[in-house]
Amino acid sequence: MPVELIKDALPKHVGIIMDGNGRWAKKRLLPRTAGHKVGVDVARGIMTYADELGIKYLTLYTFSTENWKRSKDEVDFLMNLLKVHIKTEGDFYKKQNIRFLHAGDITALSEDLQKEIHSLIDATKNNTGISLILAINYGGRDEIIRGINKAIAEGNTSITENDFKKFLDNPDVPDADLIIRTGGEQRLSNFLPWQLVYSE
Ligand code: IPE
Ligand code: IPE
Ligand code: MG
Repeated sequence: MPVELIKDALPKHVGIIMDGNGRWAKKRLLPRTAGHKVGVDVARGIMTYADELGIKYLTLYTFSTENWKRSKDEVDFLMNLLKVHIKTEGDFYKKQNIRFLHAGDITALSEDLQKEIHSLIDATKNNTGISLILAINYGGRDEIIRGINKAIAEGNTSITENDFKKFLDNPDVPDADLIIRTGGEQRLSNFLPWQLVYSE
């Protein structure tokens, strides 16, 4: 269908659970890490296409709070891939007018990686194209609990749904309209529970 015809029906915020990298590689007799590498390229393509379509927010689930339970080698590989990606994609984001954000508790990441993330957020904060939210060390329950603790720290003893929104990781990002999971499973795996109550 021509892009002009679907503009009105476009979701504002799409969330993608990028799953199946390991199985993709295994099928081709490659190490799981090869699947993660290809996953990064696919994610870049999706982001560019979503931006062309006019989607305003794209959240990519890249590492969950549960993924630390994987082997140390795989965790190290994924962390390094993220670091290289954030370092090298920075110029591309800036050129393409992409706004970079993150969700999740990044205080658990190396100081180096935290610095790269903060500096890319800062460098792209005035960009007006698609907002790309990388969910890193993200767990939906963790986001809610951290939010509750922020609310308590500000002295709240009782809050409404509406008040609570401002304690989420990205208060200005609207709820997700569409959730996609690649790889064939249909689990949510702790992805955006607060934001997906009306998602398809
Ligand atoms: C998704 O692919 C990538 C991450 C969770 C980081 P998987 O690594 O979960 O691949 P499968 O599901 O085992 O095939
Ligand atoms: C979900 O995939 C998390 C990410 C894509 C980052 P997993 O492969 O980690 O989820 P489970 O273990 O199948 O639920
Ligand atoms: Mg998986």
